[in-house]
Amino acid sequence: MPLSHELENRIRAEFPKYPEKRAVLLTALHFVQEEQGGWVAPDCILAIAGLLEIDPIDVKEVVSFYHMFHDHAVGQSHLQVCTNLSCSMRGARGLVRGLEEILGVRPGEMTPGGEFSVEEVQCLGSCGSAPVVQVNNEPFLENVALADLKSLVAGLQTRRRAAVGE
Ligand code: FES
Repeated sequence: MPLSHELENRIRAEFPKYPEKRAVLLTALHFVQEEQGGWVAPDCILAIAGLLEIDPIDVKEVVSFYHMFHDHAVGQSHLQVCTNLSCSMRGARGLVRGLEEILGVRPGEMTPGGEFSVEEVQCLGSCGSAPVVQVNNEPFLENVALADLKSLVAGLQTRRRAAVGE
């Protein structure tokens, strides 16, 4: 079963807060992604559609539209580099290449062990502070320079080690 009873109940508990079940979709996706390793698997999409009584394609469209949802497995630190116009003009492509060199993965890939993944994303809505990088759903890193990347990655590694008590 793709969703645990607890997760289904958590989603069902949202129904009374909205005029119709389909309005719970974004909340349900956040819950599922939080509890299922940072992404929404195909069987979860089907399960959410069933719970909300909507077509699975409606769920899939929302997952693929919003950069905060993922339809594939991502790393514990998922680095999203905006490569839309303003960010590209201010060096975002170089940031992607820099992360490829530091982490040894290309956009869409994950490091062995799943610590990091990198993805190019569309406009994050902070064009005035381009180029912009976002780690998971944390606040944007703005005006990011190539020289910032090594310390960014090192800081994330330190934080992860501290979190697991290494
Ligand atoms: S183009 Fe990158 S934030 Fe808008």
